[in-house]
Order: sequence, then C-alpha cells, then structure tokens
Amino acid sequence: MTIAVFEHEAALAAALARRVADAITDNPRLVLGLPTGRTPIAFYNELRHVSQQQAVDWSRVHTFNLDEFVGLSERDEHSYRRFMDRHLFAHVNVSRSHIHFLDGTARDPVRECEAYERAIDEIGGIDLQVLGIGANGHIGFNEPGDGLAARTHRVTLLDQSRADNAWWFGGDRQQVPAEALSMGMATILKSRAIVLMATGPAKADAVAAMIDGPLTTRVPASFLQLHPNVTAMLDEEAASPE
Ligand code: F6R
Repeated sequence: MTIAVFEHEAALAAALARRVADAITDNPRLVLGLPTGRTPIAFYNELRHVSQQQAVDWSRVHTFNLDEFVGLSERDEHSYRRFMDRHLFAHVNVSRSHIHFLDGTARDPVRECEAYERAIDEIGGIDLQVLGIGANGHIGFNEPGDGLAARTHRVTLLDQSRADNAWWFGGDRQQVPAEALSMGMATILKSRAIVLMATGPAKADAVAAMIDGPLTTRVPASFLQLHPNVTAMLDEEAASPE
C-alpha cells in the first residue's frame, strides 16, 4: 500500500482531484467508483473546479457509487444519489445514463445487487475506485463483524455508522435508515486501482489497523492489503494513531 500524507485536508483533496481528472484525460472512458460521506466533500469541490478549469470531458465516463440506503429513492433528499447530484454530478457533463447507483427502493434487493455486480462486470470492471473509511474500519457499508459478504449485498448498519451518518439527516440518528445496499469487499477489490482518503483524528486507529493490522473481518479495510494498487491519502491527523 502506498501511503501519502498531506499537511491538511485541502491539499489532499486537490491532489486526489488532480489524479481523477488526469485519469479521465488519459482514459475518457474511465469507470470510476465513488464514495459519499463528509470526507469526500472537499474532494468533490476540487474535482468540480479542476474539471471546469481543464475542460475535463465526463461524457464517456461511467460512475458506480458504493452504496445507498434501503428505502430511499433517488429523489429522496437524504439519498446518497442526491448527495452525488449536489456535490458532483450536477456540475460536470457526465451522462445521466452513465451514472450507476444501487436502488434503495428495489422490490427485490437481492436481484438489484446481482444486477449491479453484472453491470460492473459487463462494463469491464472499475478502473479507479475512490474510498473513504469509517471510524470502525468499514469500507462502503461493509461493517465489522464475524464475517463479510463478498459481493454487493444488503446490510444492517451498526449503531456507530448510523450515528456517523446523522449529519446527513439533520443530526437525528433515528432518521438514518437501518439498512443499506453496498458493494462487497470482493467487488471493491476487483477494481484496477484504489485510492482511499481519510482525514481527522477519529479515523487514525482504523487507518493504522488498515495499514498494519492483521487481515480481519473486524476491520474490513484490512482486506485492502490484498490489493496490489492501493494508495491511502491521509491528512496528518488520520496518519497519527494515539
Ligand atoms: C459511503 C462510504 C462509507 C464512508 C465512510 C466514511 O459511500 O462508502 O464507507 O466512506 O463511512 O464516511 P465519512 O467520510 O462521512 O467519515
């Protein structure tokens, strides 16, 4: 795993935005995996700016987001789909038909997850997967536990994950859905390249376990050690465990 430490969040966001913009310039048909959450907001702001400044053409790019809450439609203001519209999709010329998202209202979530896996495979796989990390070591919504589901699946969120997402629901953790659909760790590990971003002291222990800890389903991020092309982009706080 390559580790890159930045003095502050803004420098990290700018570097990652440049990497993604350059990747699209090099390969206009890039297939991009994307996260939501608080950490990527600065990155998406930068990516919008860089895309405008450098006239990056998103028209042939495909995107696959990691996860979505069960029960929320793409029109729901609290869906991750709406998060992505607000922070990225509305600001670049990505084709609507190239935005791939798990449907949290799918009648048959198992089929929805299988179809998502197929869509990723049929397009030739994800070229560059951008990730955040939960304070509990989760990736996407692959929560720590006795086991992990390898492929895209329905998951029950842990209390900490619901609390950590309360900011997106007006601060009320009770409003955070109890379940989500998420790419699995095997889905994520199939990506050709992975960049994980982490900022702030709350992530430091999870980051340390991801980099140096044993492979364990108790820290889903530890499985990234199996991948040959992972870059962890950290600010100084996330890079400094207690
Ligand atoms: C969300 C996702 C999650 C987040 C993680 C960190 O799509 O994949 O794994 O990356 O929960 O979230 P923030 O950035 O809000 O701390």
